[in-house]
Amino acid sequence: MKDFLRSIEHLLRVVLLLALGVIGFLVVRRMVIPAEFGKYGHFRPAALDEIRAHPVKFAGRQACEACHSDQADVKSKGKHANLGCEACHGALARHAEDPGSLVPKLPDTAVLCARCHEANQAKPKSFPQVKTAEHSSGLACNTCHKPHDPRIGG
Ligand code: HEC
Ligand code: HEC
Ligand code: HEC
Ligand code: HEC
Repeated sequence: MKDFLRSIEHLLRVVLLLALGVIGFLVVRRMVIPAEFGKYGHFRPAALDEIRAHPVKFAGRQACEACHSDQADVKSKGKHANLGCEACHGALARHAEDPGSLVPKLPDTAVLCARCHEANQAKPKSFPQVKTAEHSSGLACNTCHKPHDPRIGG
């Protein structure tokens, strides 16, 4: 028996190492897998609550229109009617809740307008596009276009 054990000692060592590896893996796996993982499939249910707990950053255009009816009226008559206020002004829930606590800076039209209107092959032909450098020859876009109703003479 002793001789036999000695003769397979090298095998036992490998088996022991493998077993330790498997146990180690199971222990680590247990520690790092979040509670309830798998309850609804390959998801972590607690993530939903964490996402829900994020503060809302966008107020929605109805909120803006309630206080800024002048801008809303102008916008409703032009081609920008369907754009949300926050598409240009950024997320402003904090301002809408308490206007004084965060007064938005006015957007820089050179950056803002180009974001949507810079000519690009990938955009549909029907979408109004300009090569801003040639088109505006260095003037700010709002020298000629009113941002809320951009048609010339509008
Ligand atoms: C509860 C009323 C209220 C709501 C809602 C509101 N605002 Fe305002 N907003 C104000 C007031 C009041 C000021 C002026 C604040 C100051 O100058 O102290 C202001 C200022 C601004 C300014 C700066 C104006 C300037 O001349 O510099 C912008 C831009 C603006 N609001 C956009 C928005 C947008 C976009 C929304 C929607 C996300 C919004 N506001 C929602 C009341 C409101
Ligand atoms: C297409 C982009 C765009 C959209 C959409 C937009 N704005 Fe503006 N808004 C601007 C820009 C650019 C200015 C700065 C104009 C300037 O510097 O003369 C501005 C200025 C303002 C101002 C300062 C006062 C004024 O009239 O210049 C307020 C208030 C304002 N916007 C509110 C709103 C509200 C409310 C909405 C939604 C009903 C809205 N904006 C939608 C681009 C936009
Ligand atoms: C978030 C995207 C977006 C931004 C930012 C934006 N626009 Fe527009 N713009 C539009 C859309 C959408 C239309 C309508 C396209 C249509 O109806 O075919 C439009 C239409 C226009 C038109 C055509 C008006 C007409 O009556 O034919 C002009 C000019 C224009 N925008 C200028 C501007 C200027 C100047 C700025 C910066 C103050 C600006 N836009 C910012 C999306 C944008
Ligand atoms: C010097 C005045 C002026 C300036 C500055 C200017 N535009 Fe224009 N823009 C015009 C005129 C005029 C038209 C109308 C041209 C027409 O109807 O063919 C126009 C038309 C447009 C159109 C509609 C193009 C189309 O195919 O329907 C867009 C989009 C536009 N401008 C965006 C901008 C942007 C973005 C800026 C800033 C980078 C800007 N404009 C600066 C005068 C100006």
